[in-house]
Amino acid sequence: MPHRSPGAPGHTGGNYLSGKVIKYYRPRGSADVRHLIDHGFQAFNAGRLSEACSIFTEKMLLPEHDTTIGLTVAGALTPAGLGGCVIEMMERGLVDFIISTGANLYHDLHYALNFSLHRGSPFLDDVELYEQGIIRIYDVLFPATVLLETDAYIRDFLVRSKISGAMATSEFHYRLGLDLLEKNPGCEAYSVVAHAAKMGVPIYTSSPGDSSIGMNIAYHELMNGGTLMIDPNRDVNEVCAIILAGKKNGCVILGGGSPKNFYLQGQPTLWEVYGIPKGGNDYFIQFTTDQVVWGGLSGATPAEAVSWGKVNPGVLPDTVVTYVDSTIGFPLFCEYVVGAEHGRRPRKELIHKREAMVADLLQQARQAGDEKPIQDEPPEIDRHR
Ligand SMILES: NC(=O)c1ccc[n+]([C@@H]2O[C@H](COP(=O)([O-])OP(=O)(O)OC[C@H]3O[C@@H](n4cnc5c(N)ncnc54)[C@H](O)[C@@H]3O)[C@@H](O)[C@H]2O)c1
Repeated sequence: MPHRSPGAPGHTGGNYLSGKVIKYYRPRGSADVRHLIDHGFQAFNAGRLSEACSIFTEKMLLPEHDTTIGLTVAGALTPAGLGGCVIEMMERGLVDFIISTGANLYHDLHYALNFSLHRGSPFLDDVELYEQGIIRIYDVLFPATVLLETDAYIRDFLVRSKISGAMATSEFHYRLGLDLLEKNPGCEAYSVVAHAAKMGVPIYTSSPGDSSIGMNIAYHELMNGGTLMIDPNRDVNEVCAIILAGKKNGCVILGGGSPKNFYLQGQPTLWEVYGIPKGGNDYFIQFTTDQVVWGGLSGATPAEAVSWGKVNPGVLPDTVVTYVDSTIGFPLFCEYVVGAEHGRRPRKELIHKREAMVADLLQQARQAGDEKPIQDEPPEIDRHR
């Protein structure tokens, strides 16, 4: 029995769940939104959003650039219904891999399993909500039973699949996605995790213990003697290998948090640790509400990232930070991108290429090691490529 029961007996959530069900919105390339962004968003953060749209559609998506695009996801975005934007981007080959907080992936499973999250109000009595067995994420409301039943599905998956041994989070999420597709056919239209498995998009989590998915994996180990071991080293090497294999590299960063760094550390890992002179990112787009003045990574600008070798110094015009709530900025951005000339491209399906890419990383790292001077001088980085 869970320590915290989902509401006192006889309580049903009352009126709290009478708000509309939150659905995953799929952007459709609206010409009016494109017109607004091109002609109406001219200055301040509207101007930056317009710039982000231009960098993505006119540079990152140019076929000759063949940019490998990483999307990082932090903040309560799947609970707010933004999973549909991510699904549309994957479907169109516009996102090649994802790094997300575990929370977003966990809450995505509710949609895959056909549970409902509701629109509500941020101004509610949380003691009353607790008594009614209602969970609140700002103005998103859902019954605690959604958590319990989603947890039960994860534990059931862990037992049924006999998943074991050390593995990257990309492999774990891929198998979880395949299971969802088998168990709930058609759920890929409503789930980032299931859709990613179908589209061959690897999903990584930068802090695997920090979500209800991690909590249930821990349960499985303690209670069932499960031997599944999430191996962050594999994640680090796979992300590095993906970046190394990219002709050009670019990112769309939603929020900040650990997914942002997990993506951006790829290039320093290549030059600082493996001695491979790959150079930094070519394109950098961030939607954030975080500020630079606190010194945290979440609010750090692309200019600061240059000093770490995370961003190529010569490409600062191809970087932009839009100070906007992602729940506003990202759907507008996706609507624009979907309607763009290159708003669809062949999918890279990196999930099936991970082994080959890591083998290439190993080979290049060995080569760099052989060529390393005895004095261990820092390698010269071709930052302009
Ligand atoms: N059940 C679970 O597995 C679990 C675990 C952790 C968190 N959560 C819940 O999930 C939600 C998301 O948590 P999280 O760990 O993904 O990220 P988070 O909420 O901790 O946010 C991380 C980063 O994203 C930025 N950010 C957040 N919201 C933003 C917005 N609307 N626009 C722009 N930037 C934004 C933050 O400033 C920060 O840099 C939280 O509400 C939390 O309560 C659930």
